[in-house]
Amino acid sequence: MKRSKIKELLGMQPGAEVLAKGWVRTKRGNKQVKFIALNDGSTINNIQVVANTEIIDEETIKRITTGASLAVKGELVASIGSGQAVEIQAKEIEVIGECDPMRFPLQKKDTSLEYLRSVAHMRLRTNTFGAVLRIRHAMAFAIHKFFNDKGFVYLHTPLITESDAEGAGDMFQVTTMDLKNIPLDKKGNVDFSKDFFGKKTSLTVSGQLEGELGATAVGEIYTFGPTFRAENSNTPRHLAEFWMIEPEMAFYDINDDMELAEEFVKYLVQYALDHCMDDLQFLNDKYDDGLVERLRSVLGIAFQRVTYTEAVDILEKAVANGKQFEYPVHWGTDFQSEHERYLVEQHFGKPVILIDFPKDIKAFYMKQNEDGKTVRGMDVLFPKIGEIIGGSEREADLQKLETRIDELGMSRKNLEWYIDTRRYGTVPHAGFGLGFERLLLFVTGMANIRDVIPFPRTPKNAEF
Ligand code: 4AD
Ligand code: MG
Repeated sequence: MKRSKIKELLGMQPGAEVLAKGWVRTKRGNKQVKFIALNDGSTINNIQVVANTEIIDEETIKRITTGASLAVKGELVASIGSGQAVEIQAKEIEVIGECDPMRFPLQKKDTSLEYLRSVAHMRLRTNTFGAVLRIRHAMAFAIHKFFNDKGFVYLHTPLITESDAEGAGDMFQVTTMDLKNIPLDKKGNVDFSKDFFGKKTSLTVSGQLEGELGATAVGEIYTFGPTFRAENSNTPRHLAEFWMIEPEMAFYDINDDMELAEEFVKYLVQYALDHCMDDLQFLNDKYDDGLVERLRSVLGIAFQRVTYTEAVDILEKAVANGKQFEYPVHWGTDFQSEHERYLVEQHFGKPVILIDFPKDIKAFYMKQNEDGKTVRGMDVLFPKIGEIIGGSEREADLQKLETRIDELGMSRKNLEWYIDTRRYGTVPHAGFGLGFERLLLFVTGMANIRDVIPFPRTPKNAEF
């Protein structure tokens, strides 16, 4: 008999002989009859298996414990109990893999997210992580669909690179050198010519610079891959390894860029509401009763566009009126997430797109405004999260770009390949980066970024 997924079974009419396979969530009942909740990961919902002790032998019933894996053959019948339309009247149950209830880590009373992080190798088996994984998958699929439907080309940018795109220096070095015996040159510096690539290399912090090479060749590209940042930030919004989506578009200015970013996130939220409602409802009921409402709320409204300078005014007025922030704010400072969240949650009550930042707090590649002080960057800020997207129009002018690289004391020589895009047929272009896990924080309502990626990497934590 062919196995049916539980998701299918729950949508079928009663009457059929079926075979289901999955893991036991719970078992309850009395001497005559046991009710087993079986889940196979195809949906948040379990199928109820009714095991009559006259049909299923006692020994088998005993081995059916939370976490055990089963194959169940029986008839799909209408359920009298509430909560499900159909259930399986078992005729045959095979215990595929037993699960010792005394040792199974998910059997414990403590089901807090914090406890689950300590048994992260097993937490994927919980309802919560099942829901998160399915939503994560749906969002990844929707991202490819969005760009594919628009004719963007998926560009694979390197993970190992010599360039620090963001210029922040938070890079993980990649080397095959023996750390106990590092080759030095005559001046006593590390001799990277002896290293695997013959130069100093690191894991990428962003695929953008290579993305610009693609966009100025085939027009519109996007990347979607892991990025790595060795920032020592132990916050609920930072990972050392996170996934980023970076579209880059030739002939786009900052306004086109903002429009695409807004359309993109709204599309993804709509896709989640259309395709993941069972999982969203589960997370809504368990962790965050405002979740579904909040998702719907971003769809109908235009995001608020505001310049950095206007935002500083708003924040300074708030401080003058008694609002207390942990970090001070004045023109020239980089906003902290408390400032971003004040703008989004208290002041405007909707997502905000901040533009025109002081050039000194942004990367070298951003297009400079005429005022000589600000650049055409944009950050999209979301409720509960703060920054979810960072992007900009790029400096397309060769001279201005070179001057900026010099001003920042960066090496022009290492960036010749990038500067060539401005030498040969330069065009206005723009792009942005969406942090995949930040998006998932918003869509799932989870509060900690460690709970929206299967195997989180954070300072002092790289298990599995
Ligand atoms: O603002 P960022 O640093 O921008 C860039 O990397 C640009 N090169 C993007 C571009 O224009 N193509 O990072 C982009 C986004 C942030 O808005 C945030 O959502 C996410 O990446 N992000 C992180 N997510 C999780 N953990 C971290 N440590 C993150 N750092 C950035
Ligand atoms: Mg940023």
